[in-house]
Amino acid sequence: MVWIAPSLLSADFCNLGRDIESMEEAGARILHLDVMDGHFVPNLSLGTPVVGAVRKKTRLILDVHLMISNPDHMIDAFIDAGADYLSVHYESSFHLDNLLDRIRSRGVQPGVVLNPQTPVAVLEEIIHKCHHVLIMSVNPGFGGQKFISTSFEKVRKLKDLLTSRKLDVRIEIDGGLGPLNTTEAVRSGVDIIVAGSAIFDSADPRATFEQMQQTAEIEEEKLLKSIRSRSIGSREI
Ligand code: DX5
Ligand code: ZN
Repeated sequence: MVWIAPSLLSADFCNLGRDIESMEEAGARILHLDVMDGHFVPNLSLGTPVVGAVRKKTRLILDVHLMISNPDHMIDAFIDAGADYLSVHYESSFHLDNLLDRIRSRGVQPGVVLNPQTPVAVLEEIIHKCHHVLIMSVNPGFGGQKFISTSFEKVRKLKDLLTSRKLDVRIEIDGGLGPLNTTEAVRSGVDIIVAGSAIFDSADPRATFEQMQQTAEIEEEKLLKSIRSRSIGSREI
């Protein structure tokens, strides 16, 4: 099932508990938390104290996106703070194979993030160790940026790689997503759609979340129907 993952980067940090509750009430299953260090990306956001506080507040899946240099120094601290999914950038990790093993060995789902300029091909030797791959559809560091139009093509390439290797790895997309491109995201093969400003800067965040989740489910159902009817057709032949 396709999930919309509200990104807390665009929530009201003085009312984080309230915003989390409103996403729970809207039916969210997962929350996206952006960690920025002012070095790997030119911005600072939140760290382990905030992840820990969010962990105490909710049982939703915490999807922690590390935009930091030397993530190997910090993964244990974020796991201790309560991350359920932990995503590290390909561009910031020298020993990715080892890092993914370390994350998984602690019972957390490991993911690799690709910046917009990094091709899907770099994942070939590591993809079987990923629970998910996060495709950045903006340059990381800030919410509210414009979606990079070639990103869905990249998702399709990743989907092809997964199909050819018969792997069940979830595809996540992050940056510039909202109600207007949710359908296309699902069509391209995305499983988790991160949305920050589209939800929290809207007049009614809860309604916007619900609209995106419903749009995603309708499109997914259509895709499943067409796959089913194609497989019935081929059996008849
Ligand atoms: C950007 C972050 C995103 C950010 C997305 O570097 O990784 O998760 O919150 O924000 P929007 O949805 O506003 O583009
Ligand atoms: Zn993110």
